[in-house]
Order: sequence, then C-alpha cells, then structure tokens
Amino acid sequence: MKKTKLIYEGKAKKLHETEDPDLLVVEFKDDMASLDGRKKGVIKNKGIVNSKISTYIFNFLDSYHIPSHFEKSLSDREILVKRLEMVPIEVIVRNIATGSLCDKYGCKEGDSLQYPIIEFYLKNDKLNDPMMNEYHAAAFGLATPEEMRTIVRFATKVNAILKSFFIRRKVRLVDFKLEFGRFKGQLYLGDEISPDTCRFWDLETGEQLDKDRFRKDMGRVEEAYQEMLRRVLNL
Ligand code: TMP
Repeated sequence: MKKTKLIYEGKAKKLHETEDPDLLVVEFKDDMASLDGRKKGVIKNKGIVNSKISTYIFNFLDSYHIPSHFEKSLSDREILVKRLEMVPIEVIVRNIATGSLCDKYGCKEGDSLQYPIIEFYLKNDKLNDPMMNEYHAAAFGLATPEEMRTIVRFATKVNAILKSFFIRRKVRLVDFKLEFGRFKGQLYLGDEISPDTCRFWDLETGEQLDKDRFRKDMGRVEEAYQEMLRRVLNL
C-alpha cells in the first residue's frame, strides 16, 4: 500500500494517507518525549520495537475477538491500519499502584490493587488532559453511554487477556493506556500497545522495562525495549 500524504506527525508516530481512503499507514519513530514534550530524546530502534510489539499484541487480541485498527505489518516500523474516527479520550487501566495514581491518591507505590482501576482522561494538550468520566463524555458529545460501556468492556477484557499473556513472559502488566475510534459504525481499539504506553515490571526482579526508564533518566532504555520485544515474541 503506497503512502500518499503525511497527515499527522506526533512525538512518536507519523500517520500517512494511502490510495485507499479507509486505510492509513502508521510509521513508528525513534523519537521519545515526556513531560508534555519538554523532555526529548531518541531511542535507537524504538520505532521498530513498538511496531513489532503492537503488531504481535493486536494479532493476539484479535484471536480473543477484540477488534483493533490493525490490518497488517508493512515494514519494520510501518503498519497498515483502518482509518478510525478517534474518540478523544485516553483510557487508562491499572493493576498496580504507581505513577499519577500515587501522586493523586497517596497510595503506596507498588501495591497490587484489589480490583483493576479504569480511568478516563480528555485528550487535550492545552488543558493537560484533565481526568473525566462517562458523564463528561456524554455531556460534551465525545462518546455515547453505550460506546462508553463498550470501551469499559473492551478495556476490562484486554486487561485480563494481557495480564496473563505477560505473566507467561515473566512480566507484570502494571498499567497501560488504550485509545478507541469508530469505523463504519463500530468501535475499534486504535493507537499502539507498546513500552511507550504500558508499564512493564519484571516479575522476579521488579526491573522497569518501559518508558519510565526514559522519564526517570534510569538509563538502558534501548536495552529495556529490546528485552520487552524478546519477551513478547517469546524468544
Ligand atoms: P500515569 O501513571 O502517568 O497516569 O500513566 C498511566 C499509564 O498510562 C502508563 O502506563 C503510561 C500510560 N500513559 C500513556 O501512554 N500516555 C499518556 O499520555 C499518559 C498520561 C499515560
């Protein structure tokens, strides 16, 4: 599928239109940013790792009837996807207390949660992605109550499937972010599932194998991403 026009370039990805109006090419970059873009860096081959991990996981989720935008892999760092009309909400699922959950609620870092937490954040950089709920979604016309119920159902199911997938690979799925979009009247999982959008801790040592290494200047970011790819592919 030929790329025809660059339509979006973000911190970690480029989006290209194709000859088919229903399909886009996602190109995963090596650029990394955090703190709303104030901290920047390049992690060698991160784009390749994120493309391969997302490809593997979208295929795996498909076998559990979780619909995603993924169509096929095109190259090391490019995938072909359905062109979704994105719901401007970040859906966060948490199994272990860390990150902004501990900042907000003062819970103990690293504690297992008695039940997974699902949170919603409005995607709006200018407003620093404020936390929101189903009522905001309906009131602002972002998603219908039925769509929000579907999103919660998918997020819960993805969590259950991926938690055990990663346990088999000796990794704890601490938390992760999902995004959804509409295509021909149906909701699909979009975006990516990678060490950029999930927290992964080694099951035995607790070593962080995700973007937190970059956020916290822990070093060995490239190695952690490569290790996650190796584990996902079960090599
Ligand atoms: P948080 O603890 O900073 O709220 O992050 C929770 C999870 O969501 C973590 O795995 C990182 C991921 N995430 C993103 O992928 N993008 C974002 O913009 C945010 C805020 C979190």
